[in-house]
Amino acid sequence: MKPLALELPVRTDTKKVYIETYGCQMNTSDSEIVLSVMNRDGYQPTDDIAAADVIFLNTCSIRDNAEQRIHGRLTNIIYYKRRNPKLVVGVLGCMAERVRKDLLKEGSVVDVVVGPDQYRALPELVGEALFGSKGLAVKLSRVETYDDIIPLRTDGISAWLSVMRGCDKFCTFCVVPFTRGRERSRSLESIVDEVRDLAAHNFREVTLLGQNVNSYISDGHDFADLLAAVADVDPRIRVRYTTSHPQDMSDKLIETMVSRGNICKYIHLPVQSGSNRVLELMNRTYTAEHYLERVAKIRELLPGASLSTDIIAGFPTETEEDHQRTLRLIEQVEYDGAYTFKYSPRENTRAWAMGDTVEEKVKGRRLQEIIDLQRDISSRNNQSLVGTIEDVLVDGPSKKDEHEWKGRTDTNKVVIFPRGDEEIGEYVRIKIRKATAATLFGNPVDAEGREKWVPLELLATS
Ligand code: SAH
Ligand code: SF4
Ligand code: F3S
Repeated sequence: MKPLALELPVRTDTKKVYIETYGCQMNTSDSEIVLSVMNRDGYQPTDDIAAADVIFLNTCSIRDNAEQRIHGRLTNIIYYKRRNPKLVVGVLGCMAERVRKDLLKEGSVVDVVVGPDQYRALPELVGEALFGSKGLAVKLSRVETYDDIIPLRTDGISAWLSVMRGCDKFCTFCVVPFTRGRERSRSLESIVDEVRDLAAHNFREVTLLGQNVNSYISDGHDFADLLAAVADVDPRIRVRYTTSHPQDMSDKLIETMVSRGNICKYIHLPVQSGSNRVLELMNRTYTAEHYLERVAKIRELLPGASLSTDIIAGFPTETEEDHQRTLRLIEQVEYDGAYTFKYSPRENTRAWAMGDTVEEKVKGRRLQEIIDLQRDISSRNNQSLVGTIEDVLVDGPSKKDEHEWKGRTDTNKVVIFPRGDEEIGEYVRIKIRKATAATLFGNPVDAEGREKWVPLELLATS
Protein backbone atom coordinates (compact mmCIF):
# COMPACT_ATOMS: atom_id res chain seq x y z
CA MET A 1 0.00 0.00 0.00
CA LYS A 2 1.21 3.53 -0.76
CA PRO A 3 2.09 5.63 2.32
CA LEU A 4 -0.20 8.55 3.12
CA ALA A 5 1.03 11.98 2.10
CA LEU A 6 1.29 13.06 5.73
CA GLU A 7 3.74 10.29 6.49
CA LEU A 8 6.11 11.34 3.71
CA PRO A 9 9.48 12.51 4.97
CA VAL A 10 9.80 16.29 4.81
CA ARG A 11 11.44 17.30 1.53
CA THR A 12 13.81 20.22 1.80
CA ASP A 13 15.91 21.69 -0.96
CA THR A 14 18.97 20.19 0.69
CA LYS A 15 18.11 16.78 -0.79
CA LYS A 16 20.87 15.86 -3.21
CA VAL A 17 20.86 13.74 -6.34
CA TYR A 18 24.01 12.39 -7.92
CA ILE A 19 24.03 10.87 -11.41
CA GLU A 20 26.71 8.95 -13.26
CA THR A 21 26.26 8.63 -17.02
CA TYR A 22 27.48 5.77 -19.23
CA GLY A 23 27.05 5.06 -22.95
CA CYS A 24 26.22 7.48 -25.73
CA GLN A 25 25.32 11.19 -25.86
CA MET A 26 21.64 10.29 -25.77
CA ASN A 27 22.26 9.20 -22.20
CA THR A 28 24.17 12.40 -21.45
CA SER A 29 21.17 14.33 -22.68
CA ASP A 30 18.72 12.10 -20.78
CA SER A 31 20.66 12.63 -17.55
CA GLU A 32 19.96 16.35 -17.88
CA ILE A 33 16.26 15.53 -18.25
CA VAL A 34 16.42 13.28 -15.18
CA LEU A 35 18.06 16.07 -13.16
CA SER A 36 15.37 18.46 -14.31
CA VAL A 37 12.57 16.07 -13.27
CA MET A 38 14.21 15.55 -9.87
CA ASN A 39 14.86 19.25 -9.44
CA ARG A 40 11.15 19.99 -9.81
CA ASP A 41 10.70 17.64 -6.87
CA GLY A 42 13.13 19.60 -4.69
CA TYR A 43 16.39 17.77 -5.38
CA GLN A 44 19.62 19.63 -6.11
CA PRO A 45 22.27 17.99 -8.28
CA THR A 46 25.61 17.21 -6.64
CA ASP A 47 28.99 16.06 -7.96
CA ASP A 48 29.81 14.53 -4.60
CA ILE A 49 28.57 10.95 -4.45
CA ALA A 50 29.23 10.76 -0.71
CA ALA A 51 26.83 13.68 -0.09
CA ALA A 52 23.97 12.22 -2.17
CA ASP A 53 20.54 11.13 -0.92
CA VAL A 54 19.89 9.53 -4.30
CA ILE A 55 22.45 7.90 -6.59
CA PHE A 56 21.49 7.17 -10.19
CA LEU A 57 23.51 5.22 -12.72
CA ASN A 58 22.31 6.01 -16.24
CA THR A 59 23.46 2.88 -18.01
CA CYS A 60 24.35 1.41 -21.40
CA SER A 61 23.79 -2.11 -22.74
CA ILE A 62 25.41 -1.85 -26.13
CA ARG A 63 28.15 -4.40 -25.46
CA ASP A 64 28.57 -6.92 -22.67
CA ASN A 65 31.51 -5.04 -21.14
CA ALA A 66 29.32 -1.94 -20.73
CA GLU A 67 26.99 -3.98 -18.51
CA GLN A 68 29.84 -5.64 -16.59
CA ARG A 69 31.11 -2.20 -15.67
CA ILE A 70 27.75 -1.34 -14.11
CA HIS A 71 27.67 -4.56 -12.08
CA GLY A 72 31.12 -3.62 -10.77
CA ARG A 73 30.01 -0.09 -9.95
CA LEU A 74 26.96 -1.37 -8.05
CA THR A 75 29.27 -3.44 -5.87
CA ASN A 76 31.19 -0.25 -4.94
CA ILE A 77 27.95 1.52 -4.14
CA ILE A 78 27.16 -0.98 -1.36
CA TYR A 79 29.72 1.01 0.66
CA TYR A 80 27.62 4.19 0.46
CA LYS A 81 24.45 2.30 1.27
CA ARG A 82 26.02 0.85 4.41
CA ARG A 83 27.01 4.33 5.53
CA ASN A 84 23.55 5.71 4.80
CA PRO A 85 20.76 3.10 4.85
CA LYS A 86 18.28 5.75 3.63
CA LEU A 87 20.23 6.19 0.42
CA VAL A 88 18.15 5.45 -2.68
CA VAL A 89 20.00 3.80 -5.58
CA GLY A 90 18.52 3.78 -9.07
CA VAL A 91 19.57 2.08 -12.28
CA LEU A 92 18.29 4.04 -15.28
CA GLY A 93 18.78 3.85 -19.04
CA CYS A 94 19.28 1.00 -21.44
CA MET A 95 20.45 -1.64 -18.99
CA ALA A 96 17.42 -0.92 -16.78
CA GLU A 97 15.27 -1.57 -19.84
CA ARG A 98 17.10 -4.75 -20.83
CA VAL A 99 17.81 -6.44 -17.49
CA ARG A 100 14.71 -5.17 -15.68
CA LYS A 101 13.64 -6.89 -12.49
CA ASP A 102 16.78 -9.00 -12.23
CA LEU A 103 18.50 -5.81 -11.10
CA LEU A 104 16.18 -5.70 -8.08
CA LYS A 105 16.93 -9.20 -6.88
CA GLU A 106 17.03 -9.67 -3.15
CA GLY A 107 20.17 -8.36 -1.55
CA SER A 108 20.77 -6.04 -4.46
CA VAL A 109 21.73 -2.51 -3.60
CA VAL A 110 19.30 -1.27 -6.25
CA ASP A 111 15.98 0.31 -5.15
CA VAL A 112 14.56 1.55 -8.43
CA VAL A 113 14.94 0.44 -12.05
CA VAL A 114 13.65 2.94 -14.60
CA GLY A 115 13.85 2.69 -18.39
CA PRO A 116 14.44 5.59 -20.83
CA ASP A 117 10.75 6.39 -21.38
CA GLN A 118 9.71 6.48 -17.71
CA TYR A 119 11.76 9.28 -16.19
CA ARG A 120 8.67 11.29 -15.25
CA ALA A 121 7.90 8.54 -12.71
CA LEU A 122 11.23 8.97 -10.89
CA PRO A 123 10.14 11.29 -8.04
CA GLU A 124 7.26 9.00 -7.13
CA LEU A 125 9.36 5.84 -7.26
CA VAL A 126 12.17 7.44 -5.25
CA GLY A 127 9.57 8.65 -2.72
CA GLU A 128 8.27 5.11 -2.32
CA ALA A 129 11.79 3.72 -2.06
CA LEU A 130 12.35 5.94 0.99
CA PHE A 131 9.76 3.70 2.64
CA GLY A 132 11.48 0.58 1.56
CA SER A 133 9.46 -0.41 -1.50
CA LYS A 134 11.39 -1.30 -4.61
CA GLY A 135 10.22 0.23 -7.88
CA LEU A 136 10.29 -0.85 -11.51
CA ALA A 137 9.15 1.27 -14.50
CA VAL A 138 10.31 0.03 -17.88
CA LYS A 139 7.36 0.48 -20.19
CA LEU A 140 8.45 1.87 -23.55
CA SER A 141 6.38 4.61 -25.11
CA ARG A 142 5.49 5.47 -28.71
CA VAL A 143 5.11 9.15 -27.92
CA GLU A 144 7.34 10.22 -25.04
CA THR A 145 9.90 12.83 -26.15
CA TYR A 146 10.15 14.91 -22.93
CA ASP A 147 9.31 17.81 -25.19
CA ASP A 148 8.13 20.04 -22.33
CA ILE A 149 11.02 19.34 -19.96
CA ILE A 150 13.87 21.84 -20.00
CA PRO A 151 17.04 19.84 -19.37
CA LEU A 152 19.14 20.91 -16.38
CA ARG A 153 22.39 21.68 -18.18
CA THR A 154 25.69 22.30 -16.50
CA ASP A 155 28.15 22.79 -19.34
CA GLY A 156 28.56 26.43 -20.30
CA ILE A 157 29.02 26.55 -24.08
CA SER A 158 28.03 23.23 -25.69
CA ALA A 159 24.59 21.70 -25.42
CA TRP A 160 23.25 18.29 -26.39
CA LEU A 161 19.72 18.32 -27.66
CA SER A 162 17.73 15.15 -28.33
CA VAL A 163 15.51 15.69 -31.34
CA MET A 164 14.24 12.16 -31.78
CA ARG A 165 14.19 9.00 -29.68
CA GLY A 166 14.27 5.30 -30.42
CA CYS A 167 15.34 3.36 -33.49
CA ASP A 168 13.40 1.39 -36.10
CA LYS A 169 16.38 0.08 -38.04
CA PHE A 170 16.85 -3.22 -36.21
CA CYS A 171 20.45 -3.91 -37.14
CA THR A 172 20.81 -7.55 -36.17
CA PHE A 173 23.61 -6.99 -33.63
CA CYS A 174 22.02 -4.09 -31.78
CA VAL A 175 20.03 -3.78 -28.54
CA VAL A 176 18.96 -0.16 -29.08
CA PRO A 177 15.57 -0.85 -30.74
CA PHE A 178 14.74 -2.98 -27.68
CA THR A 179 16.06 -0.60 -25.04
CA ARG A 180 14.87 2.65 -26.60
CA GLY A 181 11.76 1.56 -28.44
CA ARG A 182 10.21 2.97 -31.59
CA GLU A 183 11.33 6.09 -33.40
CA ARG A 184 9.56 9.34 -32.56
CA SER A 185 10.51 12.95 -33.18
CA ARG A 186 10.06 16.16 -31.22
CA SER A 187 8.28 19.06 -32.90
CA LEU A 188 10.48 21.43 -34.91
CA GLU A 189 9.01 24.44 -33.09
CA SER A 190 9.89 23.16 -29.62
CA ILE A 191 13.46 22.40 -30.73
CA VAL A 192 13.91 25.84 -32.29
CA ASP A 193 12.52 27.46 -29.11
CA GLU A 194 15.02 25.53 -27.03
CA VAL A 195 17.88 26.63 -29.29
CA ARG A 196 16.72 30.27 -28.98
CA ASP A 197 16.87 29.87 -25.25
CA LEU A 198 20.38 28.38 -25.49
CA ALA A 199 21.47 31.34 -27.63
CA ALA A 200 20.11 33.74 -25.03
CA HIS A 201 22.17 31.90 -22.41
CA ASN A 202 25.37 32.27 -24.47
CA PHE A 203 25.69 28.69 -25.64
CA ARG A 204 27.98 28.52 -28.67
CA GLU A 205 27.40 24.99 -29.94
CA VAL A 206 24.45 22.63 -30.12
CA THR A 207 24.55 18.99 -31.16
CA LEU A 208 21.25 17.56 -32.38
CA LEU A 209 20.99 13.99 -31.19
CA GLY A 210 19.24 10.80 -32.20
CA GLN A 211 20.24 7.18 -32.75
CA ASN A 212 19.17 7.82 -36.31
CA VAL A 213 19.02 11.54 -36.29
CA ASN A 214 18.58 11.93 -40.05
CA SER A 215 15.37 9.92 -40.06
CA TYR A 216 13.80 12.76 -38.03
CA ILE A 217 10.30 13.57 -39.27
CA SER A 218 7.73 15.82 -37.65
CA ASP A 219 4.71 17.48 -39.27
CA GLY A 220 6.23 17.01 -42.72
CA HIS A 221 9.56 18.54 -41.69
CA ASP A 222 12.55 16.28 -42.34
CA PHE A 223 15.97 16.44 -40.73
CA ALA A 224 17.37 18.85 -43.34
CA ASP A 225 14.49 21.27 -42.59
CA LEU A 226 15.20 21.00 -38.88
CA LEU A 227 18.93 21.53 -39.34
CA ALA A 228 18.32 24.67 -41.42
CA ALA A 229 15.82 26.04 -38.88
CA VAL A 230 18.22 25.46 -36.00
CA ALA A 231 21.18 26.97 -37.87
CA ASP A 232 19.11 30.09 -38.64
CA VAL A 233 18.49 30.83 -34.96
CA ASP A 234 21.92 32.41 -34.47
CA PRO A 235 24.85 32.37 -36.89
CA ARG A 236 27.28 32.45 -33.93
CA ILE A 237 26.04 29.03 -32.77
CA ARG A 238 27.71 26.05 -34.33
CA VAL A 239 25.36 23.22 -35.14
CA ARG A 240 26.41 19.57 -35.16
CA TYR A 241 24.42 16.36 -35.30
CA THR A 242 24.89 12.67 -34.62
CA THR A 243 24.35 9.82 -35.49
CA SER A 244 23.37 9.69 -39.11
CA HIS A 245 22.49 6.49 -40.92
CA PRO A 246 23.98 6.06 -44.42
CA GLN A 247 20.59 5.14 -45.84
CA ASP A 248 19.07 8.47 -44.80
CA MET A 249 22.04 10.65 -45.85
CA SER A 250 20.09 12.54 -48.52
CA ASP A 251 21.37 15.05 -51.08
CA LYS A 252 19.03 17.57 -49.49
CA LEU A 253 20.78 17.11 -46.15
CA ILE A 254 24.24 17.54 -47.67
CA GLU A 255 23.04 20.63 -49.59
CA THR A 256 21.64 22.10 -46.39
CA MET A 257 25.05 21.65 -44.78
CA VAL A 258 26.58 23.56 -47.69
CA SER A 259 24.05 26.37 -47.40
CA ARG A 260 24.74 27.43 -43.79
CA GLY A 261 28.21 28.46 -42.59
CA ASN A 262 27.46 27.54 -38.98
CA ILE A 263 26.55 23.90 -39.72
CA CYS A 264 29.76 22.07 -38.95
CA LYS A 265 31.43 20.22 -41.80
CA TYR A 266 31.68 17.05 -39.85
CA ILE A 267 29.67 13.87 -40.37
CA HIS A 268 29.71 10.76 -38.24
CA LEU A 269 28.56 8.07 -40.65
CA PRO A 270 28.87 4.56 -39.21
CA VAL A 271 29.64 1.95 -41.85
CA GLN A 272 30.15 -1.11 -39.56
CA SER A 273 31.73 -3.25 -42.31
CA GLY A 274 33.10 -2.98 -45.83
CA SER A 275 31.70 -6.36 -46.91
CA ASN A 276 28.28 -6.50 -48.57
CA ARG A 277 27.78 -10.03 -47.30
CA VAL A 278 28.30 -8.89 -43.70
CA LEU A 279 26.28 -5.69 -44.20
CA GLU A 280 23.38 -7.82 -45.32
CA LEU A 281 23.69 -10.15 -42.32
CA MET A 282 23.76 -7.03 -40.16
CA ASN A 283 20.58 -5.73 -41.85
CA ARG A 284 22.27 -2.39 -42.46
CA THR A 285 20.10 -1.89 -45.60
CA TYR A 286 22.90 -0.43 -47.77
CA THR A 287 25.85 -1.80 -49.70
CA ALA A 288 29.46 -0.68 -49.55
CA GLU A 289 28.93 0.84 -53.02
CA HIS A 290 25.97 2.92 -51.84
CA TYR A 291 28.01 4.06 -48.84
CA LEU A 292 30.97 5.07 -51.03
CA GLU A 293 28.65 6.90 -53.40
CA ARG A 294 27.29 8.93 -50.43
CA VAL A 295 30.85 9.70 -49.34
CA ALA A 296 31.71 10.83 -52.89
CA LYS A 297 28.72 13.17 -52.82
CA ILE A 298 29.83 14.60 -49.47
CA ARG A 299 33.38 15.10 -50.79
CA GLU A 300 32.05 16.80 -53.91
CA LEU A 301 29.66 19.21 -52.18
CA LEU A 302 31.53 19.70 -48.91
CA PRO A 303 35.22 19.72 -49.69
CA GLY A 304 37.32 19.64 -46.52
CA ALA A 305 34.53 18.01 -44.50
CA SER A 306 35.65 15.55 -41.93
CA LEU A 307 34.17 12.07 -41.67
CA SER A 308 34.19 9.52 -38.88
CA THR A 309 32.68 6.09 -38.53
CA ASP A 310 31.91 3.06 -36.34
CA ILE A 311 33.25 -0.37 -37.21
CA ILE A 312 32.59 -3.79 -35.74
CA ALA A 313 35.32 -6.42 -36.00
CA GLY A 314 34.44 -10.11 -35.90
CA PHE A 315 30.72 -10.13 -36.68
CA PRO A 316 29.48 -13.77 -36.87
CA THR A 317 30.91 -15.60 -39.93
CA GLU A 318 33.19 -12.67 -40.86
CA THR A 319 35.99 -14.08 -43.02
CA GLU A 320 39.45 -12.76 -43.67
CA GLU A 321 38.20 -11.53 -47.02
CA ASP A 322 35.32 -9.63 -45.40
CA HIS A 323 37.82 -8.05 -43.04
CA GLN A 324 40.09 -7.06 -45.92
CA ARG A 325 37.12 -5.35 -47.56
CA THR A 326 36.62 -3.30 -44.40
CA LEU A 327 40.29 -2.27 -44.45
CA ARG A 328 40.02 -1.30 -48.09
CA LEU A 329 36.92 0.78 -47.48
CA ILE A 330 38.68 2.61 -44.65
CA GLU A 331 41.54 3.39 -47.03
CA GLN A 332 39.16 4.61 -49.70
CA VAL A 333 37.17 6.91 -47.44
CA GLU A 334 40.19 8.24 -45.53
CA TYR A 335 38.23 8.85 -42.34
CA ASP A 336 39.37 11.39 -39.81
CA GLY A 337 38.45 9.05 -36.99
CA ALA A 338 36.79 5.72 -36.21
CA TYR A 339 35.18 4.16 -33.16
CA THR A 340 36.03 0.50 -33.38
CA PHE A 341 34.55 -2.42 -31.47
CA LYS A 342 34.88 -6.17 -31.15
CA TYR A 343 31.56 -7.82 -31.86
CA SER A 344 29.71 -8.57 -28.63
CA PRO A 345 26.77 -11.01 -28.85
CA ARG A 346 23.57 -9.60 -27.33
CA GLU A 347 20.82 -11.90 -26.19
CA ASN A 348 17.50 -11.65 -28.07
CA THR A 349 18.98 -9.84 -31.05
CA ARG A 350 18.83 -11.60 -34.42
CA ALA A 351 22.60 -11.96 -34.62
CA TRP A 352 22.57 -13.85 -31.30
CA ALA A 353 21.24 -16.87 -33.17
CA MET A 354 24.21 -16.71 -35.56
CA GLY A 355 26.54 -17.58 -32.70
CA ASP A 356 29.84 -15.90 -31.89
CA THR A 357 31.84 -17.65 -34.57
CA VAL A 358 34.99 -15.55 -34.82
CA GLU A 359 37.62 -16.59 -32.31
CA GLU A 360 38.49 -13.97 -29.70
CA LYS A 361 42.14 -13.92 -30.81
CA VAL A 362 41.15 -13.31 -34.43
CA LYS A 363 38.69 -10.57 -33.44
CA GLY A 364 41.42 -8.88 -31.43
CA ARG A 365 43.90 -9.05 -34.31
CA ARG A 366 41.40 -7.70 -36.84
CA LEU A 367 40.42 -4.89 -34.50
CA GLN A 368 44.07 -3.95 -34.04
CA GLU A 369 44.64 -3.89 -37.79
CA ILE A 370 41.70 -1.52 -38.18
CA ILE A 371 42.96 0.72 -35.37
CA ASP A 372 46.52 0.84 -36.77
CA LEU A 373 45.34 1.65 -40.27
CA GLN A 374 43.02 4.37 -39.04
CA ARG A 375 45.71 5.91 -36.86
CA ASP A 376 47.99 6.27 -39.90
CA ILE A 377 45.20 7.85 -41.94
CA SER A 378 44.17 10.25 -39.13
CA SER A 379 47.77 11.27 -38.72
CA ARG A 380 48.19 11.86 -42.46
CA ASN A 381 44.96 13.87 -42.66
CA ASN A 382 46.00 16.01 -39.71
CA GLN A 383 49.49 16.56 -41.14
CA SER A 384 47.90 17.99 -44.25
CA LEU A 385 46.38 20.74 -42.09
CA VAL A 386 49.77 22.06 -40.94
CA GLY A 387 50.08 25.63 -42.22
CA THR A 388 46.31 26.19 -42.56
CA ILE A 389 44.31 28.65 -40.46
CA GLU A 390 41.33 27.24 -38.55
CA ASP A 391 38.49 28.88 -36.63
CA VAL A 392 38.64 27.33 -33.19
CA LEU A 393 35.95 27.54 -30.54
CA VAL A 394 37.68 27.69 -27.15
CA ASP A 395 36.13 25.15 -24.80
CA GLY A 396 38.47 25.21 -21.81
CA PRO A 397 42.03 24.77 -20.56
CA SER A 398 44.05 21.88 -21.95
CA LYS A 399 44.08 18.88 -19.61
CA LYS A 400 47.84 18.54 -19.79
CA ASP A 401 48.84 22.16 -19.27
CA GLU A 402 46.63 24.89 -17.89
CA HIS A 403 48.72 27.51 -19.72
CA GLU A 404 47.22 26.19 -22.92
CA TRP A 405 43.69 26.34 -24.29
CA LYS A 406 41.79 23.47 -25.85
CA GLY A 407 39.26 24.10 -28.58
CA ARG A 408 37.67 22.49 -31.62
CA THR A 409 37.62 23.22 -35.30
CA ASP A 410 34.43 23.20 -37.32
CA THR A 411 35.48 19.70 -38.41
CA ASN A 412 35.56 18.57 -34.75
CA LYS A 413 39.33 18.33 -34.40
CA VAL A 414 40.92 19.16 -31.08
CA VAL A 415 43.35 22.10 -31.20
CA ILE A 416 45.76 23.09 -28.43
CA PHE A 417 47.24 26.59 -28.38
CA PRO A 418 49.00 28.92 -25.93
CA ARG A 419 46.68 30.73 -23.58
CA GLY A 420 46.39 34.50 -24.02
CA ASP A 421 43.47 36.70 -23.01
CA GLU A 422 40.92 34.63 -24.95
CA GLU A 423 37.80 33.43 -23.17
CA ILE A 424 35.86 30.18 -23.15
CA GLY A 425 33.18 30.39 -25.85
CA GLU A 426 35.25 32.70 -28.05
CA TYR A 427 36.23 31.89 -31.65
CA VAL A 428 39.96 32.23 -32.27
CA ARG A 429 41.83 31.96 -35.59
CA ILE A 430 44.66 29.49 -35.18
CA LYS A 431 47.50 28.71 -37.56
CA ILE A 432 48.26 25.00 -37.31
CA ARG A 433 51.91 24.30 -36.60
CA LYS A 434 52.05 20.65 -35.67
CA ALA A 435 49.77 17.60 -35.78
CA THR A 436 49.43 14.11 -34.32
CA ALA A 437 46.77 11.49 -35.15
CA ALA A 438 44.51 12.89 -32.42
CA THR A 439 45.42 16.55 -31.93
CA LEU A 440 46.42 19.73 -33.73
CA PHE A 441 48.71 22.37 -32.19
CA GLY A 442 48.97 25.98 -33.30
CA ASN A 443 49.08 29.68 -32.55
CA PRO A 444 46.56 32.51 -32.68
CA VAL A 445 46.84 34.76 -35.73
CA ASP A 446 45.59 38.29 -36.34
CA ALA A 447 43.17 39.33 -39.08
CA GLU A 448 45.97 39.31 -41.69
CA GLY A 449 46.99 35.81 -40.71
CA ARG A 450 50.14 36.89 -38.84
CA GLU A 451 50.97 34.82 -35.79
CA LYS A 452 50.70 36.79 -32.58
CA TRP A 453 53.60 35.00 -30.95
CA VAL A 454 55.24 31.62 -31.20
CA PRO A 455 56.44 29.69 -28.17
CA LEU A 456 59.93 28.32 -28.48
CA GLU A 457 59.04 24.65 -28.36
CA LEU A 458 56.64 25.04 -31.27
CA LEU A 459 59.20 27.01 -33.27
CA ALA A 460 61.63 24.17 -32.73
CA THR A 461 59.30 21.68 -34.39
CA SER A 462 58.10 23.89 -37.23
N1 SAH B 1 22.77 4.44 -34.15
C1 SAH B 1 24.12 4.39 -34.43
C2 SAH B 1 25.00 3.74 -33.39
C3 SAH B 1 24.49 3.12 -32.19
S1 SAH B 1 25.52 2.21 -31.13
C4 SAH B 1 24.30 3.72 -35.77
O1 SAH B 1 23.38 3.34 -36.41
O2 SAH B 1 25.40 3.52 -36.19
C5 SAH B 1 27.15 2.70 -31.46
C6 SAH B 1 27.98 1.68 -32.11
O3 SAH B 1 28.17 0.56 -31.28
C7 SAH B 1 27.41 1.08 -33.38
O4 SAH B 1 27.58 1.92 -34.47
C8 SAH B 1 28.20 -0.19 -33.51
O5 SAH B 1 29.39 0.02 -34.21
C9 SAH B 1 28.51 -0.55 -32.08
N2 SAH B 1 27.74 -1.73 -31.63
C10 SAH B 1 26.42 -1.83 -31.50
N3 SAH B 1 26.08 -3.07 -31.10
C11 SAH B 1 27.23 -3.77 -30.99
C12 SAH B 1 27.54 -5.11 -30.61
N4 SAH B 1 26.61 -5.99 -30.33
N5 SAH B 1 28.86 -5.47 -30.60
C13 SAH B 1 29.82 -4.59 -30.90
N6 SAH B 1 29.58 -3.32 -31.27
C14 SAH B 1 28.30 -2.91 -31.31
FE1 SF4 C 1 21.44 0.10 -33.47
FE2 SF4 C 1 21.28 0.02 -36.08
FE3 SF4 C 1 19.57 1.50 -34.72
FE4 SF4 C 1 22.10 2.25 -34.90
S1 SF4 C 1 20.66 2.08 -36.60
S2 SF4 C 1 20.87 2.21 -33.06
S3 SF4 C 1 23.18 0.30 -34.88
S4 SF4 C 1 19.72 -0.72 -34.66
FE1 F3S D 1 24.21 2.46 -24.90
FE2 F3S D 1 21.66 2.86 -24.90
FE3 F3S D 1 23.25 4.66 -25.97
S1 F3S D 1 22.66 0.94 -25.24
S2 F3S D 1 24.92 3.41 -26.72
S3 F3S D 1 23.19 4.10 -23.87
S4 F3S D 1 21.19 4.13 -26.62
